[in-house]
Amino acid sequence: MKKFIELFDLKAFLFVIIFAFAASGQTQDFHSYSNPGEIRVTHINLDWDVLFDKKILSGSAVLSFERVNKDPNALLNLDTRALDIQKVETSDDGGKTFSNTKFRLGENDKYLGTPLTIELPAKADRVKITYSTSPDASGLQWLTPEQTAGKKSPFMFSQAQAIHARSFIPLQDSPAVRVTYSAKVRTPKGLLAVMSAEGNTEDNAKRGGDYSFNMPRAIPPYLIAIAAGDLKFQSLGKMTGVYSEPSILEKSAYELADTEKMVAATEKIYGKYRWGRYDILVLPPSFPFGGMENPLLTFATPTILAGDRSLVSLIAHELAHSWSGNLVTNATWRDFWLNEGFTTYLERRIIEAVYGVPRREMEASLGKNSLMEELSGMDERDQILHVDLKGRDPDEGFTGVPYEKGALFLRYLEETFGRKTFDKFVRDYFDKYAFQSITTETFVDHLEKNLLSKNPKLVSRAEIEKWLEQPGLPENAPSPKSDAFAKVKIQADNFLNGKTAASQLATKGWTTHEWLHFLKSMPADLGSERMAKLDEVFKFTKIGNSEIAFQWLMMSIAQDYKPADARLEDFLINIGRRKFVRPLFAELAKTPAGMQRACEIYAKSRAGYHPITQSSVDSIVSCDR
Ligand code: BES
Ligand code: ZN
Repeated sequence: MKKFIELFDLKAFLFVIIFAFAASGQTQDFHSYSNPGEIRVTHINLDWDVLFDKKILSGSAVLSFERVNKDPNALLNLDTRALDIQKVETSDDGGKTFSNTKFRLGENDKYLGTPLTIELPAKADRVKITYSTSPDASGLQWLTPEQTAGKKSPFMFSQAQAIHARSFIPLQDSPAVRVTYSAKVRTPKGLLAVMSAEGNTEDNAKRGGDYSFNMPRAIPPYLIAIAAGDLKFQSLGKMTGVYSEPSILEKSAYELADTEKMVAATEKIYGKYRWGRYDILVLPPSFPFGGMENPLLTFATPTILAGDRSLVSLIAHELAHSWSGNLVTNATWRDFWLNEGFTTYLERRIIEAVYGVPRREMEASLGKNSLMEELSGMDERDQILHVDLKGRDPDEGFTGVPYEKGALFLRYLEETFGRKTFDKFVRDYFDKYAFQSITTETFVDHLEKNLLSKNPKLVSRAEIEKWLEQPGLPENAPSPKSDAFAKVKIQADNFLNGKTAASQLATKGWTTHEWLHFLKSMPADLGSERMAKLDEVFKFTKIGNSEIAFQWLMMSIAQDYKPADARLEDFLINIGRRKFVRPLFAELAKTPAGMQRACEIYAKSRAGYHPITQSSVDSIVSCDR
């Protein structure tokens, strides 16, 4: 009998624990040291001097918090990385006065950084941390004037996703801990500071380097962003506009002219845009990503400025995140596909609405082909949408899987249930979980209740499991169909079997997409002679379009096509976008002679790269220095 009671109690105890965990909405985030189940930060007030000479942000962060479990002895755990913490104080009078408190920095972890534990008096509801960042903060890049388009002023920008916010703010760096924020920022006179918040302005001359920002909607910390430099603004429409260095502003505005239309098209399918304005900041070429969906102000690489608006699906993508990602957010990096798969699916829907089905199908087809190629050389565990990233750098989850496999899964659901039904489902999903961070399990529950069970027998639970938890692509994955690409393939085949000379190929009117498909159709044994024939007619080595140039350079390395050598070096020195830089170095590193060249080029290019690009190339290029 006694045993029974003990057993029963143990069960009840476990049940209470598990239930409490579930009820508090907590799922474990393996990439944060913070303790939002006890103390939860709700607002961050920043005060920064942007010090270009020292390459640091210096100032303070005041964190307001709630005591979730009402424990008066609870400690506050924050994430930090390479921060110089000068003072930690607490307030119990709403931030009027602060007094010193004890704090402790824990051991450093190479992926997670250093936990900061702070003692809180029982009545405290705010903590103020006075600190500065390190010159090599992983989430910031400091550019010399030479690294900018204008060559006259320095430039700085942040990139917080996935877990780099902690390198410039001590905070609870988990996407499940949503915060509002406000900021005061001081820059040298004449420079303009912008943030992912309200308060962006074009009259920098008048402001003398003094700026205030406010983000009144609760966002995950990875969406906090700042940039400062010689920036100007140009309007693109009523609610959209672009910031960039003056010398590329006109070109940027031309390229991004369809932005306002894209917003309207997205609102029509998925409901109101809930953030106010939608502006884009075009950064210098060292920006390590294509784009970053910082709310109210997408950050974008200048490598999308092709001159013909052919690469603007990137804007459709970042805009789509205003619904999928920024409004409904992955609770942990394991659920990253909820952000990127939905966004890639939405991106294609926007492209269809603004440019038509043929363009959507070309882009979807390029996407699926590159996924198939990537899958063939990928560890099985990484082919899973609901990927396990415990103990790893969440940046390792950045593959084609969450993006393209995720988008195919949603397209499969659309095709199965019909567009009308599926669109309503997605729209309701955004409404229901707006401004929340959710896990894959929550999505699946919602899917079962609102789509599967209302349309029985179309899709089984096992089918969903397969998409989410198994490697590879299910046999019933959708296949995009592009007539334009079928025609390109005929031309590629005619060239390859010697039927048609390069100069006689029917390429009139081809867009970037068709050229990309053409080049990707070339075989592994193309050879430098045939490359020379193509180059003579189509001038690929000199082409300005970054996507086509990248594809051509990848082939040039593999085929040892020497006439492209100088362009390769130039490309790698001037562009720091990781998606281009990493594969090019990896292709070089495949042979001893290539590795030698990689070392020579990297010696010149590394200093200009963002820390994120540097660390991913460091692991590829090994030289006896
Ligand atoms: N949010 C991502 C960028 C990101 C993801 C940065 C994970 C850091 C960690 C952004 O929306 C994105 O997906 N950008 C893509 C472009 C897009 C068109 C596929 C990129 O930068 O290549
Ligand atoms: Zn994205």
